[in-house]
Amino acid sequence: MIDGKAISKEIKASVAAEVEKLKAMGITPGLAVVLVGNDPASRTYVTNKEKDCASVGIYSEEYALPETTTQKELLELVQTLNSKKTINGILVQLPLPAGLNEEEVIKTINPLKDVDAFHPENVGRIMIGNCRFLPCTPAGIMELLHHEGISPEGKRCVVIGRSNIVGKPMAMLLLHANGTVTICHSKTRGLKEICREADILVAAVGKPKFVTADMVKPGAVVIDVGMDRDENGKLCGDVDFANVESIASYITPVPGGVGPMTRAMLLKNTITAAKIQNGMDVI
Ligand code: GUN
Repeated sequence: MIDGKAISKEIKASVAAEVEKLKAMGITPGLAVVLVGNDPASRTYVTNKEKDCASVGIYSEEYALPETTTQKELLELVQTLNSKKTINGILVQLPLPAGLNEEEVIKTINPLKDVDAFHPENVGRIMIGNCRFLPCTPAGIMELLHHEGISPEGKRCVVIGRSNIVGKPMAMLLLHANGTVTICHSKTRGLKEICREADILVAAVGKPKFVTADMVKPGAVVIDVGMDRDENGKLCGDVDFANVESIASYITPVPGGVGPMTRAMLLKNTITAAKIQNGMDVI
């Protein structure tokens, strides 16, 4: 079992040390988190992100806007944050309530403050392998693999899910690491057979216990991005953990696997943003 919580603690410790160094130079990294509406899951994510910032010494501001917020009001807030000197990173929690245009909001964020790496300019950079900000969840997964000494090079990697947040950028990072990558989705034919070929299987479908034991090759590395609820309302992942655990060589639990890594990568990106905006080298 891959302990994402423990690995994220190591990353957070190194982020905290970097924050110290930046503060000694008069730079306090700052993150603005924008939440629109009352989705309870989004509320939890945003609260956790702020706690994470506090735990490593990053300054954070929360903007909790009502469900009734207009597109114009939201864009104005983003523009204000774009020009705010104390703010290096801007995160607008997705999904936005119906009626708001996410794509337009993302495009309005200054790409140098786009710590989610959702802006088309940053997405393009991920595509060509010249990342400014690494997409948080895929980057967290790459860190987990690296930490466990698992290289995607030459391996069959199967990603289930094609979202802009996880599936697509995940496939790119695995490809850049010389994996042979297949992206599957709801229209894929022969999904089970394709999954059974995977040396590294990443499940990002958003359906509880979707990946069953018969979809996993013995000895495969199974990464679970899901944050779902089972039939009893209990938190679970996209993988049927109880039955897959004994087949996989490595597996991430939910909770305590990918989630804490995503959060840690956001902190890393906020440091990167602060450095870029202060003319420092980030490589
Ligand atoms: N909603 C689900 N995951 C994410 C994320 O990584 N960033 C933002 N902004 N919203 C999300």
